[in-house]
Amino acid sequence: MDNLIEIAKKKAGIAAVDEFVKDGMVLGIGSGSTVVYAVNRLIERTKQEGLKVVCIPTSFQSTQLIVNGGLTLGDLSQFPKIDVDIDGADEVDENLNLIKGGGGCLLQEKIVAFNSEKLVIVADYRKNSKILGEKWKKGIPIEVIPLAYVPLMNQMEKLGGSPFLRLAEKKAGPLITDNGNFILDVDFGEISDPKKLNQKIKMLSGVVETGLFIGMANKVYFGQQDGTLDQKI
Ligand code: 5RP
Repeated sequence: MDNLIEIAKKKAGIAAVDEFVKDGMVLGIGSGSTVVYAVNRLIERTKQEGLKVVCIPTSFQSTQLIVNGGLTLGDLSQFPKIDVDIDGADEVDENLNLIKGGGGCLLQEKIVAFNSEKLVIVADYRKNSKILGEKWKKGIPIEVIPLAYVPLMNQMEKLGGSPFLRLAEKKAGPLITDNGNFILDVDFGEISDPKKLNQKIKMLSGVVETGLFIGMANKVYFGQQDGTLDQKI
């Protein structure tokens, strides 16, 4: 079972790189376990065909992947316009709206996606839904300023959500993001109007960013259990 999921992730990662990445591009490099396969493919193509790309990371994890893989690391101040951003997702609905942030990197992921001409998502078959919240049951990750987390939990309840403060590993305290913030995972059940909900959450003081990526993705690759590929455009 686990092996089939890894095969599916690899299939998606390779397809995204082979279809979208061309020599000389500036790329966004997302976070998570599926993106690792896309980065491995970039490294392979760099060695095989002399591909040269600049990679803008979305997290500490993706910075490490870029540097350890010998790829060229850049940042948004040097390269404010990204050609293609390749990232993972926790759930994708039928309109290509996403829930992201399962790995806690949603803020930098959204900034990089926002400044990219194309956002290409790599995922396995478990992420493909009709409606957000149908399969992803851990809630919407929302990055918040630490001093505001308690009032924000109350505000989330008023919006109809059940908020949980995300804890660090071994529950040693709150998880601290790469940007020094906390994450609230807020369960809103199935989300019929993700755009409206996103707007409401973003209005709350102390919210830095939400894991709802509305109308941002251009294409999604879902690797399948049998090694084939499904796509949503
Ligand atoms: C991290 C993310 C990841 O892209 C998302 O959680 C998917 O990860 P994986 O590919 O490991 O399933 O949004 O903040």
